[in-house]
Amino acid sequence: MTVTQVPEPLPSPLVRVRWLKQPSSPAWLEQALADPDTVLIDHAHCERKAAGVALQLMFRYPSDETLAAALSPLAREELEHFERVLALLQRRGVAMRPLAAPPYGAALTAQVRRQEPQRMLDSFLVAGLIEPRSHERLALLARHSPEQELADLWGDLLASEARHFGLYWLLCERRWPRPVVSARLEELADLESALVASLHPHPRMHS
Ligand SMILES: [Fe+2]
Ligand SMILES: [Fe+2]
Repeated sequence: MTVTQVPEPLPSPLVRVRWLKQPSSPAWLEQALADPDTVLIDHAHCERKAAGVALQLMFRYPSDETLAAALSPLAREELEHFERVLALLQRRGVAMRPLAAPPYGAALTAQVRRQEPQRMLDSFLVAGLIEPRSHERLALLARHSPEQELADLWGDLLASEARHFGLYWLLCERRWPRPVVSARLEELADLESALVASLHPHPRMHS
């Protein structure tokens, strides 16, 4: 895939997602379209990780029933996504393999404050904020992937990710006043956009 084959300039209104301070760059899209198998492998890891984060929170706050009621179905859905990506990898004859993680996830997680209840708020917001970036990038891939089976998969997955952000947002809003949630989300969203501003050497859904 060359630069000239990327059909439209970015940003596009279709993929402008609330809470993302900056859109993904055309260079990110070009890099991702050039190596779809690596993007698939990376995305399989992302889906499994998203399920793992939801489960971790359920283990950390085991008596919180509203949290379990929201996060258990979410973990299940992320695992279903994982299985769908895995199935496509298998159809394409591509083996799963470990990939070096870019600093994105660790840098966001490092912002989680250690004391409760701030730890809970930050954990929800970090887990939530990753979702609109997934949504934005899946939308880009769905629109621009030349292979139909890839475009279809990305298109199927993207709607859930926007919903997942809403779910984490609701968990926050039930526990903290909206201005407290928004102010912290603003800070984390600034960092998130700064992190995606530099292009990782290899295609990653979050980098
Ligand atoms: Fe997902
Ligand atoms: Fe998700």
